This record gives sequence, structure tokens and C-alpha cells, in this order.
Amino acid sequence: MKDIYSAVKVTDNVYWVGAIDWTIRDFHGYTTPHGSTYNAYLVMADKITLIDTVKAPFMGEMLARIKSVIEPSRIKYIISNHSEMDHTGCLPEVIDLIKPEKVFASAVGSKTLKEIYHDEHEIIPVKDGEKLNLGNIDLTFMETRMIHWPDSMFTYLAKDELLFSQDAFGMHLATLERFADEIPAATLEYEGATYYANIVLPYSQIVLKALEKVAASGMKIKIIAPDHGPVWRNDIGWIIELYKKWASQKPTAKAVVVYATMWHSTEKMARAISEALAQAGVKVKLLSMNETHRSEVVYEVLDAGALIVGSPTLNNNILPQMADVMTYLKGLKPVNKIGAAFGSFGWSGESVKHLEAIFKDMKVDIVAESVAVKNVPDAGILEKCHELGKTVASELLKRTAAN
Ligand code: FEO
Repeated sequence: MKDIYSAVKVTDNVYWVGAIDWTIRDFHGYTTPHGSTYNAYLVMADKITLIDTVKAPFMGEMLARIKSVIEPSRIKYIISNHSEMDHTGCLPEVIDLIKPEKVFASAVGSKTLKEIYHDEHEIIPVKDGEKLNLGNIDLTFMETRMIHWPDSMFTYLAKDELLFSQDAFGMHLATLERFADEIPAATLEYEGATYYANIVLPYSQIVLKALEKVAASGMKIKIIAPDHGPVWRNDIGWIIELYKKWASQKPTAKAVVVYATMWHSTEKMARAISEALAQAGVKVKLLSMNETHRSEVVYEVLDAGALIVGSPTLNNNILPQMADVMTYLKGLKPVNKIGAAFGSFGWSGESVKHLEAIFKDMKVDIVAESVAVKNVPDAGILEKCHELGKTVASELLKRTAAN
């Protein structure tokens, strides 16, 4: 029987030979309800070259797709653009199987691969700007440190004006469509933004510099081939402009109200704050951490100008659901946010102070006095919450008026 898997032609010289993971639902804390792909690419040059590999359990699928084009033993070079295990999990086994002449990675990547796999395979370090001649085709390497690991690099195929961009411009989306132009724009924008917010956000300044570096290099790019999700081949300007927008984190007149609740007191406060924000003309997203995944919160925070957080006090602290999302948000380092805190308590009431302290660490500009209530909010406390919402809305509209 012919193998069920086949390669997908990207250009006359390049095939997609990756794997589709329909069932993955968690990527180190980032929920992936629509699965993902691990993209690997075959460059059909004189020296046939494999760009990246796939997560270990998917090696068979990748090899089957390669076999639909050539015998894998004909691969002469392997390039690892990014050491993370979703792209190198099967690399040592593939090297043993294929026995390529050479394997390349960035200088940091060659060390990182040793630290991960502790094997004897030689990984040749390449420099930023270095060219690799494949006979009839040249590849150029471009270091992209911290997008999103220190080892990360892009590989450019000038002949096809194609950029292999590893995780950048990717998304966790399992589809049989291999090209972005085969997928609705709204899906691409949502999945791309969610991926950016959960993976790339802390490195936004580096992203902006990398985009400038690519523009200044005069590198012509018609196709972007990332390591997850679809290949961009038409109107790549659309995704590049979105990356600029997401990386610049310009605040909009949108507030995200995030809370967790024990007996609905903090929830009542959250609702009063949200109503005031909306009445003042601010777009509001109200998210209960009793029901919402942290990944969705970060997606909503990406373009918001205000973040308002609430928690009851539990054992002198905040509720674990709030500790979870606040830790996650702090690590992703969103910028240009204003904020405020609120919460209920039974007797000691430390939650609001804890939330304020986290906001200070995150450099969120606290623009309204926190509201805390003992037990259940009465009409007076709800009025104070309403005032908190109005104060945040007024400050947010002032700051975003020029945008
Ligand atoms: Fe898709 Fe950073 O690995």
C-alpha cells in the first residue's frame, strides 16, 4: 500500500514535509484547542537539505512525507533553526538513520542541542549572515536570538525569496490546508495573535528590531515558511504588519477585567466595574478565571490599554486561579497598560495588596484606588466599583485619544 502521507510542494525547490498534531492541547501552559503542526521543509538542491525536523513521536510521518519525494538517505544536510524539542525531538534519531554529511545550527543552537541530547553528533555552528552553498542554491543564515530562544535563527533561500522563520509567524493550528490563503483571515488573525501573545510577546522589542534588520538588508521575501501552522505565500505584508502592530503594543480603548470569585462578591464588583467602563465608551472583556484559560486572557490583553484584576482573599493571599494568571501575565511582560485592583475578603483582606504588588512588578500604571470589601458588597461598595471603572475609563480614553 502506498503511504498515506505525502509532501506538499511549496515552490519548485521546496516541499513541506512536516507533521500534523491534531490532538495536542497544551504547549507548556498555553492551551492549543485547535492542535498544531510541526513544519519541516525539504530543499531540493544538489545537496538536498532538510530544514528542521518534528516532535519525536511524529518522525514516521515526516519520513513518510519525505519518501513521497525522495529516499531520506539522499538528504545531505540538516539545518536546525531552533532547538526546542517540538522541532528537534527526533533529530538525533534522524541523523542516525539518514547519516547526513553535515548538520548545522546557530552557535548557541549547536551548544543547546548538545545540552539537550548529550550525544556525539557534530552540529556545525553557523554565523549571522553566513552563506551555505548547496550546489545550485545558496542559503543564508540570520541570527534571531530570543525570538524566542537564544539559539533561534532564520534561514533564507534567495532563489525562491523564501524565509524559513522557525516559530516566528507561526500559529498552533492543525489543518490539511498548508497555505494561509486557504484559511479564513479571521482564523489566521485570531490564531496568529494568540500565538504571538502566548509565545513571542516578551520579545516584542527584539521582533521590531529583527523586522527592521530584514527590511534594511534588502532581502526580498515572497514566502514565509514557519515551523507551525500555514505557509504565507500571498500578501506576506499582511502578517508582517500584524507582527508590527502586536509587537508595538500600542494601547487601545479596551479594558480587560480579570477576576476569580468564591461566593460571587468579587464577581459582583467585576460586573459593576465593567458596566462603568462600557458606559464610558470603553470596549470591555470580562473574564472569570473560574472558567477561562490563561491563554485566552493573554490574547485579550495583547491590544488592551487597561487591565483590571480582582480576587477574594484566601489564606492571606489571592485565589490560586488568579495567582496562576498573574504569574503567566507577568512572565509575558505586556507593556503600556494602566490598571486597578479590587476584591472581597472575610477577615484579613490582603488580596488587593498582593495584586497591586504584582502590578508594580509588571510596571502596570495603577490609576485608581483599589476597592476592597468585607464579605458581600452593598450598594455603596458597588458604587465605589462603578467609580473605579469610570476613573480607569477616563484615564484610558485620555491616553488613547491620540492613537
Ligand atoms: Fe515551536 Fe519554540 O518551538
